[in-house]
Amino acid sequence: MDKWRGKIAVVSGASSGIGAAIIKDLAKHGVTVIGLARRSEKVEEISAASSHLDGKIFAKKCDISDQKSLKETFEWIEEKFSFIHILINNAGVLHKLSVLDTSDDATDKINSVINTNFTAVVHCTREGIRLMRKSEDFSIVININSIAGHSVYSGLHISNVYSPTKHALTAFSEILRQELVVSGSEKIRVSNLSPGVVRTEIMVRGKAFKSDEDYNDVPHINSEDISNGVLYLLSTPYNVNVTQLTIKPVGERK
Ligand SMILES: NC(=O)c1ccc[n+]([C@@H]2O[C@H](COP(=O)([O-])OP(=O)(O)OC[C@H]3O[C@@H](n4cnc5c(N)ncnc54)[C@H](OP(=O)(O)O)[C@@H]3O)[C@@H](O)[C@H]2O)c1
Repeated sequence: MDKWRGKIAVVSGASSGIGAAIIKDLAKHGVTVIGLARRSEKVEEISAASSHLDGKIFAKKCDISDQKSLKETFEWIEEKFSFIHILINNAGVLHKLSVLDTSDDATDKINSVINTNFTAVVHCTREGIRLMRKSEDFSIVININSIAGHSVYSGLHISNVYSPTKHALTAFSEILRQELVVSGSEKIRVSNLSPGVVRTEIMVRGKAFKSDEDYNDVPHINSEDISNGVLYLLSTPYNVNVTQLTIKPVGERK
């Protein structure tokens, strides 16, 4: 991990769960981190509690599903840091509802899942790679995907378009890798990290679980286990591209 010391990372969805674990771990390894979230005050709290670490954490309020907010955020990053070396597309949402529900609320939620889990990832990546190319250094894009991005296992219908957005992300990761190779940007690697069930806020916020206690009924791992996977992807030599890493809890049935 020493090679990333002093480098600059952007992590979306840094206010809770997997993203919060990742920004702490990156700062522990001396990386300068910009954590994006709508609840930027939560990133600020993490930053204050991490002030003893080698790497500094900057909080930036951003709604990645809003094109204007996203564009302004990357302009701010460019102005303040000039370039970046690590982009972790982690922000994501899930809503429990039927894909056939035509109410306005359901329409908004379905659009929010598509925009956050896929459309925003495409645009964050385009902006992120623009800033990586400015550095001319070795860089990496890590997409936090899901096991739901590789198969449509029984019961997934409750989360409507969540699995389709993650399948799109699987395809996008490979499209991006190929584009970087043919356009001569081989110093930029792309990895897809697909977790099984992780104990975070996502299921409760999306009403798929009634409370955090519901995690006790299913095999699960913790955000730090996924962050360890990110550290592994970063630790491989520059000529090694782990394109797909799947991390499941022992006992996962899917
Ligand atoms: N937990 C699991 O079992 C599991 C399994 C497989 C994959 N994943 C994936 O892991 C990633 C992280 O989720 P998590 O489990 O850590 O859930 P989480 O605790 O709910 O975290 C989601 C993060 O995404 C951010 N976010 C959501 N919408 C956003 C928006 N429009 N703009 C900016 N940030 C936004 C949230 O921040 P704000 O609300 O503050 O904006 C929050 O920081 C997601 O991509 C998810 O699909 C999770």
